[in-house]
Amino acid sequence: MNSVPKRSFRPALPLLAVALLILLAGLWAGLLRMGWAWPRLQPTLPMAHGPLMVGGFLGTLISLERAVALAAMEKGRLARLVYLAPVSTAAGSLLLMAGVGGLVGPLLLTLGSAGLLVMMARIYMLHPALYAAVLVTGAAAWVTGNLLWLAGSAIPGVVLWWLAFLVLTIAGERLELSRLLRLRRLAQAWFAAAVVVLLAGCAVSAVSALYAPGVRVAGAGLLLLSAWLLSYDIARRRVRAGGQARFIALALLAGYVWLGASGLLALAYGGATAGPQYDAILHTVFLGFVFSMIFAHSLIIFPAVLGRPLRYRPVFYAPLLLLNISVLLRVGGDLFSAFAVRRWGGLLSAVAILLFFATMAVSLRLDAGDAG
Ligand code: HEM
Repeated sequence: MNSVPKRSFRPALPLLAVALLILLAGLWAGLLRMGWAWPRLQPTLPMAHGPLMVGGFLGTLISLERAVALAAMEKGRLARLVYLAPVSTAAGSLLLMAGVGGLVGPLLLTLGSAGLLVMMARIYMLHPALYAAVLVTGAAAWVTGNLLWLAGSAIPGVVLWWLAFLVLTIAGERLELSRLLRLRRLAQAWFAAAVVVLLAGCAVSAVSALYAPGVRVAGAGLLLLSAWLLSYDIARRRVRAGGQARFIALALLAGYVWLGASGLLALAYGGATAGPQYDAILHTVFLGFVFSMIFAHSLIIFPAVLGRPLRYRPVFYAPLLLLNISVLLRVGGDLFSAFAVRRWGGLLSAVAILLFFATMAVSLRLDAGDAG
């Protein structure tokens, strides 16, 4: 995991820097929406929070990771074209951040998502397996949500598609790793059923009269997926190992529990399109699941994207612990109408994310020094 092949990744570092800038703007926007009375910077920034976090930060990061991997496999001009996807999502997000360009920002984000879909389809052609099909499906969900958004749908009407994009991309990658366990037919069928139920929920919720039942069906899909990951992922077997393996396993398991919690919340509060219950359904996935998974995969993502070594250190637990406590506070605040608790939970999540990147930056620096 720590041995890194030597490759040339020149566009990766500037794109990663832009993605981090988008993350900062997205977090600021989220904290403004949470009620922190801080400067707005520009009037439309709070409403850009969702697109900046999902498409701007994570969309750019995922497209960049895929572009780096494909560029190493492809030759000639194709190798450089793959970077068009993260460049497009980053450019669209910068326009949204600045509050300029009208529909150009959403259009660039949509084009970037289409670029990721093409890359995922290429990966499927190279490795025609269930995990690759799930990655293609995840990218297709992002494109679908973006097209609906571009056509004028409000964000609550498209957010399930965005959520499905992130959940399926991560689940597809975990499935790829779990191939090592030689999954039986039942396990494959269970996984496929969870994906179908999640996507059916997205599709049903797109009909405005059926929004609440659609969210509930999607919630059932999230529950099925969480139960699958808790049952079949190698994480459970690795908890008893020490050091890096245990850190990764605990981060993964925390993420799977948050995914299940979101499923339960969606079943209970399916009709919410704004406010605390909507907030809890979304952020158990977006913060609890997605960021626990990012923290868990940091030892793979950073070396792969930057081409630099990264060694595990016990201090990696600090942001993971803070993130999980903060999401617990936030969801508790959401469900019991304790708005100060919710606000502090939101702020602590932002601190956990910043602490994570600071920890990574210092560790990468120390490891580069050791290698040199
Ligand atoms: C510290 C971190 C975060 C804070 C403080 C925050 C805050 C908020 C708030 C207050 C809302 C409005 C909820 C409501 O209607 O009452 C919201 C919505 C949303 N958030 Fe976050 N959020 C954070 C992290 C994230 C992350 C990591 C993602 C995605 C990966 C995300 C994606 C979204 C989306 C898509 C919406 C729906 C936007 C809309 O309906 O306009 N958030 N967030």
